[in-house]
Amino acid sequence: KEAKRTKIFAVPELVGSRVRVQGWVHRFRPQKTNYFLIVRDGTAMLQCILTGDCIKTLDALDLVTESTVEVVGTIEKVKEGQTAPGGVELIVDYWKIIGRAPGGADAFDGRLQPDTDASIRADLRHLELRGEIATSVMRVRALLLRAFRERFHARRVTEVTPPCMVQTSVEGGSTLFEFDYYGAKAYLTQSSQLYLETALPSLGDVYCIQESFRAEKSLTRRHLSEYTHLEAELVFIEFKDLLDHIEGMICEVVDILLADPVSAEIIKTLNPDFVPPQRPFMRLDYRDAIKYLNEHGILKEDGSDHVIGDDIAEAAERKMTDQIGRPIMLIHFPKALKSFYMKALESAPDFTESVDVLVPGVGEVVGGSMRIADLEELMAGYRREGIPHEPYYWFTDQRKYGTTEHGGYGLGVERFLAWMLKRYTVRECSLYPRWMGRATP
Ligand code: 4AD
Ligand code: MG
Repeated sequence: KEAKRTKIFAVPELVGSRVRVQGWVHRFRPQKTNYFLIVRDGTAMLQCILTGDCIKTLDALDLVTESTVEVVGTIEKVKEGQTAPGGVELIVDYWKIIGRAPGGADAFDGRLQPDTDASIRADLRHLELRGEIATSVMRVRALLLRAFRERFHARRVTEVTPPCMVQTSVEGGSTLFEFDYYGAKAYLTQSSQLYLETALPSLGDVYCIQESFRAEKSLTRRHLSEYTHLEAELVFIEFKDLLDHIEGMICEVVDILLADPVSAEIIKTLNPDFVPPQRPFMRLDYRDAIKYLNEHGILKEDGSDHVIGDDIAEAAERKMTDQIGRPIMLIHFPKALKSFYMKALESAPDFTESVDVLVPGVGEVVGGSMRIADLEELMAGYRREGIPHEPYYWFTDQRKYGTTEHGGYGLGVERFLAWMLKRYTVRECSLYPRWMGRATP
């Protein structure tokens, strides 16, 4: 009889039809007269029931999880009171193994247990990816990127793809990965911001979703050496417009994920207490944040009070954000803490038109600012930071050929996911995370 090959996501619509499905054995439960398989094909899961002659084959003795199989049979609704993915099951009349998986000591289930050592787990990332949590995170990640692209498109912000191999730094020399480029020094990009700025006169508002690289010398829950950086640059705007745009994008993207049945279900499972952020986000001036920290007994690492000019360390930032319990836009950082390109605050020139978005559980997910539009001010910025201006000639030119007010931001995709899906570390939110000492697999 004919059996149409189908992907599992489409199966609930095919009750009564005979279908052919290929996938991996996600779970395997042999019983005396029935074998229960949950088959996974990357689009969904399907419960399959093998009975009669189907379990008398030689192959049936070899069935273990993570083997690839082809199953053919009729789709039926599950019986009253029973559950199965999609509410249906496949009554198998023919099946075969496509690729065997090892049993015994090498069996998949045995190698990855909840208490498996973290470094072994990292070595086995290629297998861990097949697990339900990793699969869910990666699925939401894909929907998140798509939602961002959709909202950018709706705002007429154009996607570009800047280079990853560069010869200038954006966020300071200490986290640059350097490599030999045909005998010259080059770096892996820390941020595409400067390139986005140069595309404004050509394309107007632009964005990119690109890997950024940081030679972070610390092992924290939220630092990767390579991360996916979503960056946008907007022209003819003021600081207030930048803040409105950032919170608008975040809220709209969260709404899209909560409206999509697949991501909504995953968010409900992984982060049942997730509260969608409310507009407007709280705006907190850096100087008021310093006051807040001291008044709430959140001290510096050395046990002293914070003073104006201090960098707010990761732990203090997270404590404050967790206490406040909702997203915060921390604005107006001191110039001395920030990069050479940031525009000064007119009312207090030692501070900047800058913003970090902080979210509970993670801390900083977004960093952005208005940029210096004035040529002389930019030259002073290079001097202040001790940066030779020559390699930046193309960035400087932006201020010579029709300059204008503009600003932008960068959002850490893994941090955003860690927040929405309540993951302990950003390492869970990258397909193959890289951190200090880890570039395998
Ligand atoms: O705050 P950052 O360093 O800002 C910039 O790079 C700007 N040039 C971006 C811009 O305005 N276009 O990085 C932006 C965001 C951070 O808020 C954080 O979410 C993420 O990138 N990020 C990291 N994520 C994971 N691992 C790391 N090591 C990260 N460093 C920054
Ligand atoms: Mg930052």
